[in-house]
Amino acid sequence: MSEKDFIAHHQASIESGNFQWSAPSNIALVKYWGKKEKQIPANPSISFTLNTCKTITKLAFVKKDNKDSFSFDLLFEGQPKEDFKPKIQKFFERIDTYCSYLKQYHFTIDTENTFPHSSGIASSASGMAALSMNIMSLEKALNPAMSDAYFYQKASFLARLGSGSACRSIKGSVVVWGNHAEIEDSSDLFGVEFPSPIHENFSNYQDTILLVDKGEKQVSSTVGHDLMHNHPFSEQRFAQAHHNISSLKTILETGNLEAFIKITESEALTLHAMMMTSMPYFILMKPNTLEIINRIWKYRNTTQIPVCFTLDAGANVHVLYPENVRETVLQFIKDELLGYCQNGQYICDAIGTGAIKIL
Ligand code: PMV
Repeated sequence: MSEKDFIAHHQASIESGNFQWSAPSNIALVKYWGKKEKQIPANPSISFTLNTCKTITKLAFVKKDNKDSFSFDLLFEGQPKEDFKPKIQKFFERIDTYCSYLKQYHFTIDTENTFPHSSGIASSASGMAALSMNIMSLEKALNPAMSDAYFYQKASFLARLGSGSACRSIKGSVVVWGNHAEIEDSSDLFGVEFPSPIHENFSNYQDTILLVDKGEKQVSSTVGHDLMHNHPFSEQRFAQAHHNISSLKTILETGNLEAFIKITESEALTLHAMMMTSMPYFILMKPNTLEIINRIWKYRNTTQIPVCFTLDAGANVHVLYPENVRETVLQFIKDELLGYCQNGQYICDAIGTGAIKIL
């Protein structure tokens, strides 16, 4: 598939209607950090789709007379939210070439998250994925012959143009985004479901998100990605990501949890190491992030329970573990880790399957 395959050619005409989709957040195991023009990733990444942390977005549309510009109202939890509008305006501009029908309508976008606002959990992945699903529902109504495969592929393509990692929040439990020699049909343009069967050790894998710091991000991910240009270690890092996906492919197939832990934790620390070694440099971990990491290591060493962590571009910690040790690990988290969280806040999540149509 190339970019021009995603240009819409629709026939039908629809006056008005509405759709509603939920789309989940996702947590990368091999991280995307660094991009080229047009949201093309500098290296491939792979993620677990989440289940509980999601955005629910309703898109109402009605035909309008003026077809020269985009027109939309934006509601967040039922209230107008002007400061979200520029991001959506920019998204519409980016996808205009592929969705020329958008200017024919006035939209009301009504959106909410299942996780607390400014919890430090990025809503851009789930938010852009949910909006893209709704847009694709409209496109499918205009072009009912569209195949399911194309529907999901283009949804991921559009979501990517909104926020890179959003393309991994559309469909599947484990999603790869970015060209990789060993992942069939992988593409820089959209996410694909991990192609082989995943070992049962990973079924319903748990992700308990510890909210360490809910403050505003010091560095936007756009600025962070840009700092990988001219970064002294970028080439090695991009090569390492390819290598880690090759290893993780076998690990996911064979269920080797020890090897899974090594790659996952190393990737999280490498992501932060890239931030610490860029110019300007920055540290997104907090002292409590490190306390939690040390506690996890100590617990794993003494109990041999395969619990590990990963990090996003922030201070929060994702604690990952198999379902069969859920009770024990949750007890450990409550006893030893919640004291390091802001107001003791955490979210219990697990691997999910992707976006769900509500209306
Ligand atoms: O999708 P963006 O541009 O917000 O970048 C996300 C980057 C990380 O979350 C740090 C890593 C990843 O692969 O999700």
